[in-house]
Amino acid sequence: MCIAVSTADELLAPETPADTAVVDRLIARAFGPGRFAKSVERLRERGRLDRDVSFVAWRGEEAVGCVRLWHVSIGGKPGLLLGPIAVDTSCRRQGVGADLVTRACEAAAAAGWAYVVLVGDQPFFSPLGFSADRARQVRIPGPVDQARVMVRALVPGGDADLSGPVVPLA
Ligand SMILES: CC(C)(COP(=O)(O)OP(=O)(O)OC[C@H]1O[C@@H](n2cnc3c(N)ncnc32)[C@H](O)[C@@H]1OP(=O)(O)O)[C@@H](O)C(=O)NCCC(=O)NCCS
Repeated sequence: MCIAVSTADELLAPETPADTAVVDRLIARAFGPGRFAKSVERLRERGRLDRDVSFVAWRGEEAVGCVRLWHVSIGGKPGLLLGPIAVDTSCRRQGVGADLVTRACEAAAAAGWAYVVLVGDQPFFSPLGFSADRARQVRIPGPVDQARVMVRALVPGGDADLSGPVVPLA
């Protein structure tokens, strides 16, 4: 049960192996079994989860949100694929999701990554610096609504000339 309403009440921490079960449950509750049919899921199955830049939002002992990032490459340029992101239904619209994306991008930039790519809702991700326009030449293998493919540079020019399929890096 989520009782806190202030975003200042949450602690964001990198995901650890001990968090795997709780994070999997959050994702399962948010997306249901339909998530396995998504094209990006094929990339995640074959790619490497980067726990250093994947975060869990905690309120006390309770995990209320999570975001995962994976190693990928586009046209030979290494970067990160963001997703899934999930916030417990009882804690939504309190800034937790935005905080998770912002923290993950900060950590990814500090680790030297050039860009983050994702498939998601523009109304949520555009204010967080993601652009579908900059991802026009980026392809997610499989059926995907291209308008939902977005990219954010983590360094100046980090998203320049991104073109071609997103390839998982093991
Ligand atoms: C999408 C999700 C992660 C957002 O988490 P959240 O903690 O509720 O988001 P925030 O409170 O940080 O919202 C940040 C902003 O985005 C807006 N927003 C949140 N969810 C949104 C959505 N689905 N569509 C459009 N705008 C959204 C909020 O209103 C807020 O705007 P504001 O700052 O102007 O008030 C959460 O709703 C969720 O887990 N959904 C189910 C899983 C899912 O669909 N994930 C993938 C999304 S592409």
